[in-house]
Amino acid sequence: MTGCISLSMASFGLMSIIICILLFFALAPINAMVDFNQNYYPLWGQNHITFLNQSTAVQLLLDRNSGAGFRSKLQYESGLFTIRMKIPDKKTNGVITTFYLISDDQAQGVSHDEIDFEFVGTEGKLQTNLFANDMGGREEVYQLPFDPSEDYHTYQILYSPYRIVFFVDNIPVRTFKNNTNRGINFPTKPMWIEGSLWYSQSLWAGSINWNREPFIAYYQDFDISGCPYQPDNNCTSPVLYPWIRPKLDQKQLQVMRNFRQRHMVYSYCRHNRGRFPECVHQNT
Ligand SMILES: *[C@@H]1O[C@H](CO)[C@@H](O)[C@H](O)[C@H]1NC(C)=O
Ligand SMILES: *[C@@H]1O[C@H](CO)[C@@H](O)[C@H](O)[C@H]1NC(C)=O
Ligand SMILES: *[C@@H]1O[C@H](CO)[C@@H](O)[C@H](O)[C@H]1NC(C)=O
Repeated sequence: MTGCISLSMASFGLMSIIICILLFFALAPINAMVDFNQNYYPLWGQNHITFLNQSTAVQLLLDRNSGAGFRSKLQYESGLFTIRMKIPDKKTNGVITTFYLISDDQAQGVSHDEIDFEFVGTEGKLQTNLFANDMGGREEVYQLPFDPSEDYHTYQILYSPYRIVFFVDNIPVRTFKNNTNRGINFPTKPMWIEGSLWYSQSLWAGSINWNREPFIAYYQDFDISGCPYQPDNNCTSPVLYPWIRPKLDQKQLQVMRNFRQRHMVYSYCRHNRGRFPECVHQNT
């Protein structure tokens, strides 16, 4: 695996110079000191977002009035997207802490792409999901072997035309291969990168204990390694974009299998096998 730092210097949005440093076997965050405002902006709940440490960290606050969310300034066609986050330490259901990619605002619509990390409640249940021009329904849930509210941990989504991989602290926890030729839907659209803290009243999330408000999440590492969506960009060069052809080696596959065996508590494939063709094909 390789990591890559890309610095986009846009002049009037026309030109971007990509400086790319290849780091073998380095998936870990490379520069945690990047200013939030360089790559992201507050999307909603502005008065519930606080900038810390010269804006190299942000705090999102959820109370009865609002939660908050942020979004990348650019859309990306591919990338290895990293965030460090610490979810709220007050234990409750209903609170959702997220880091995800989304193709547009139609989160409830049928024709958008989305790739999600979502903490459901604050007890360490982490869900991943994937929408590919459809209604999603590809949930997996892991009970993490650590308390994600105690420290920062690193969450990464690798998005390439060949494969999607979710990583937690550099451990691949899920992969989804482009098997379009077998009739399996695969996300294709340029993506925003977003993070948010909100609450859900749905059965899925359970009900929130408002006695414990406010709920506070922290985010760090606002560096973005991605190929921005721009008419002139060729995002398929494996030299400039080493994540383009991700391949998990035998050791990583074994680490992933171990993680899933020990910590996966729900998988859509176990429950909906017939509905999703990827559940009956080898998908790694
Ligand atoms: C701010 O920086 C200090 C020192 O590096 C660090 O310990 C702390 O976690 C940071 N705060 C946040 C909210 O990330
Ligand atoms: C997925 O692979 C097919 C070929 O199998 C290719 O035509 C398509 O462009 C790929 N999907 C994306 C998102 O690039
Ligand atoms: C984009 O880059 C790839 C790999 O370097 C190359 O094969 C392809 O021809 C390029 N496409 C365009 C439109 O320049």
